[in-house]
Formats: sequence, C-alpha cells, structure tokens
Amino acid sequence: MQVGIDAVSFAVPEGYIDLGELAEARGIPPEKYFSGLGVRQMAVAAFHEDPVAMAANAARRLFRQSGASVDEVGLCIVGTETAVDHAKPVAVYLHSLLGLPSTCRVFETKHACFGGTAGILHAIDWIRSGSHRGRSALVVCTDIARYPLQTAGEPTQGAGAVAMLIRERPRLLAIDAARSGSYARDVYDFWRPLARKDALTDGHFSVQCYLEALSGSYQAFRSQPGASDAFDRYCYHVPYGKMARKAHRHLRGLQGLDEAAADAQFEQEVAPSLIFPSLVGNVYTGSLYLAVASLLHHQAARLEGRPIALFSYGSGCVAEFFPATVQPGAGAFAAALQLDQPLTQRTKLSIPAYESIRNADDTNDTRQAPPGMEPWSGQGTDTPSLHDQVVYLGIDTAERRVYKNRTTA
Ligand code: CAA
Repeated sequence: MQVGIDAVSFAVPEGYIDLGELAEARGIPPEKYFSGLGVRQMAVAAFHEDPVAMAANAARRLFRQSGASVDEVGLCIVGTETAVDHAKPVAVYLHSLLGLPSTCRVFETKHACFGGTAGILHAIDWIRSGSHRGRSALVVCTDIARYPLQTAGEPTQGAGAVAMLIRERPRLLAIDAARSGSYARDVYDFWRPLARKDALTDGHFSVQCYLEALSGSYQAFRSQPGASDAFDRYCYHVPYGKMARKAHRHLRGLQGLDEAAADAQFEQEVAPSLIFPSLVGNVYTGSLYLAVASLLHHQAARLEGRPIALFSYGSGCVAEFFPATVQPGAGAFAAALQLDQPLTQRTKLSIPAYESIRNADDTNDTRQAPPGMEPWSGQGTDTPSLHDQVVYLGIDTAERRVYKNRTTA
C-alpha cells in the first residue's frame, strides 16, 4: 500500500521585505545575502498572523484547492516550535477553525524544525497500522522564525505554514517511511528559552551539526537492505538557500562525487526546490515541505514515477533521510493546486515598518482583543468558512486567544 502526501498548500504573511534593502540598512554588501546565504525576500508576520492563523489559512486553502473534505480527517497533527500556549495545542484551535469531526485525534509535535516530519511519519504509521479506518490525516507545519534584530541570523528569519493531507494512494508523493534513516544527538546549536520570542543560535556550529546529522541519517538509510541512492532530486531542510547547497555538496561527497561535480549537479537536482524558500525565508517546521511544494510546482510533470530524497533536520538535534516517489498524475494535480498563488498577493514592507512589527512582537500574546470579542465557538457567525481568512485579534479578559474570520472581525 502506498501512503504519502496527497495534497499540499501553504500560507505566508501578507508582508515581506527585500533582503537587498535590509543589507543596505545594515551596511552589508547585498551579495552576502544573495549569493553568500542564497536568500532574496523574507516574509514578516504581522500581529494578526500568528502561528494558529497561518496554520488555519494554509489548511483552509488545502481543502479548497484539493477538493478534499474536512469530514474525512481522522487525525490532525501540528508541528511547530513557535506554539502559542504551553498546554493547549495549535491542533485543537484548528479543530474548530476548520470544523474537523469530533472523532478526530488532535495533538502538537515539537522537536525544533523536525516537528512537522514527526507528524508526517506518525500519520503514515497510523494509516499503515489500520487505525485510520479509511480516513486521512491532516499535518500542518506552522512557525514564525525570529532572531534578534541586527544579528547574523536576521536575514535567515521568515514565517509561514504548510498544510498536507496524508492518505493512502496519494496523488502527489508516496513516502517510503519504512526505509527512513534516523539520527539524534544532544547539542546546543539552536534553542529558544521559555521566556524568549526570538531564538538563540550558535550559527556556525549549527551548520556543522546539520551536516553531521545529514551524514548520520543518510548512512542509517543506506545501511538498510534494498536502499538505493539513485535519486532524481533532493529536497533539504532550508534555513537559507546556501545551506541546501552545502548539504548537497556534503551528501554527494558521501556518494563519491567531488565538490565540483556536486556543484555541477546542484542546478538540476536541488535548485527547483529552493525557489519558494528564497522568497519566504526559514519557516522552521515547514521549510522542507515548502521546498517539496516548490519542486512539485515547477517540475512534478517531468518527475512522475521518479524517486526523490527528503532530508529533515531539527536542531538540538534530530534528523531523518527518507525516499519518496512522485506519483503518476502529480503534474496535472500540482498545477490545479496553484501552489504559488499565496506568493503573488503580498506587499513589500519598508525596513522601518518591518522593524516596528518586530519591536512590538513581545506584546503579541498579551494585547487585548477588542471589547466583546470571544474565542472561536464554531457556531453562528463563527461557522467555519473555508473561503475566508482567519485573523488573530488578541486575548480576552480570561487570557483566551481570540480568532475570527476576517469578514466577521
Ligand atoms: N559576497 C558574497 N558572499 C559573501 C560575502 C559577500 N560580500 N560576504 C560573506 N559572504 C559569504 C561567506 O563567505 C559565507 O559563505 P560560506 O558559508 O560558503 O562560507 C556566507 O556568506 C555567510 O557568511 P558568514 O560565514 O560570515 O556567516 P554569518 O556570520 O553571516 O552567519 C549564519 C551565517 C551562521 C547562517 C547565520 O545567518 C545564522 O546564525 N543563522 C541562523 C542559524 C541557521 O540558520 N543555521 C542553519 C543550520 S541549523 C538549522 O537548519 C535549523 C534551523 O532551521 C535554524
């Protein structure tokens, strides 16, 4: 039985900045960002675009575009490292914002950027075990990547959510989870202490940890009987584009190619997956799947029936390397999903506007919603509308988060 990603969709904030303008404002040569880091634009989440709102908007778009029904969902997992509550999971907010069945299992997963992959692998096991009883799983990755302003990490921020439907006989990508190679090691390469909104990182060490985890998980994959490393394309976790280039050099080196030969393959084997990420930035848990969406949007038709490799990295750290196959018919279905559409409706922010959004971030979770606004009830005017946008409005007097359809806010 084949199981994998049946449909995918993403949501990004309405605002983004041009990283050439950020470089200029910081007195850094733009080429350092463009070719040194491989980034061009960076999504900036405004107050109303919190991880729940972005997750709901990505998932609503998923159901609208794919024709799937929320009634078929039996499992909803949200992978995130920027959750909005220590106890209440983003997944249960989605439960009512989407109108999922009451018989649905919902929970949140965390291990830095690996949380979404943990959700997908769990969903595949849930289907293969038979627990799904014919139902599908919804896995949503949602995050706002923040580093302190004016640090080396600043141009590698971003924000967005990627929603995926995991099913038997998937229309886009079958995933061979049984052959996944895993790797873990306790390291302090990237962390976010409880009281902080922005992450701390030992940047250069984190690059080293990522590459070691790639070696470890790839070797674990290769040690399995029947594991083939003949892949047409490679999708990596993309904190910034250059990291994927380093990863490809490293991996192809393990396969016996020298650096020049690996670089020569990069444009064909990796570059199509980096187009969307270069316009959005790091979306943490969703980064690998934004890369997958980019690849499918640009090349699914020519890759039907072909094997691709996926590498997921979560700082701290954990990694998995696993094979997947692009499904027959994926080209036409990916075109129907109009995956690039969220990127065509954005507004460029000035650097001062971006800075003032970021400087106000610390108050996002304590700002009061307009008087009289209550948490989402899923009833009356709160009936889920898959055609509307969800917005976050702040907290009520009992510190409960308030979400509305944009039209009823
Ligand atoms: N023109 C062209 N290139 C230039 C340049 C110029 N004028 N000036 C510098 N460069 C190049 C450098 O040569 C370097 O290239 P290489 O990596 O190929 O050597 C590149 O630009 C970066 O420059 P620096 O080495 O000076 O690095 P930096 O101090 O600016 O920091 C960073 C880079 C460590 C990635 C930093 O942005 C950071 O800490 N980011 C956050 C952490 C991160 O993303 N880590 C990735 C691995 S961990 C992970 O993947 C999990 C996750 O999602 C966070």
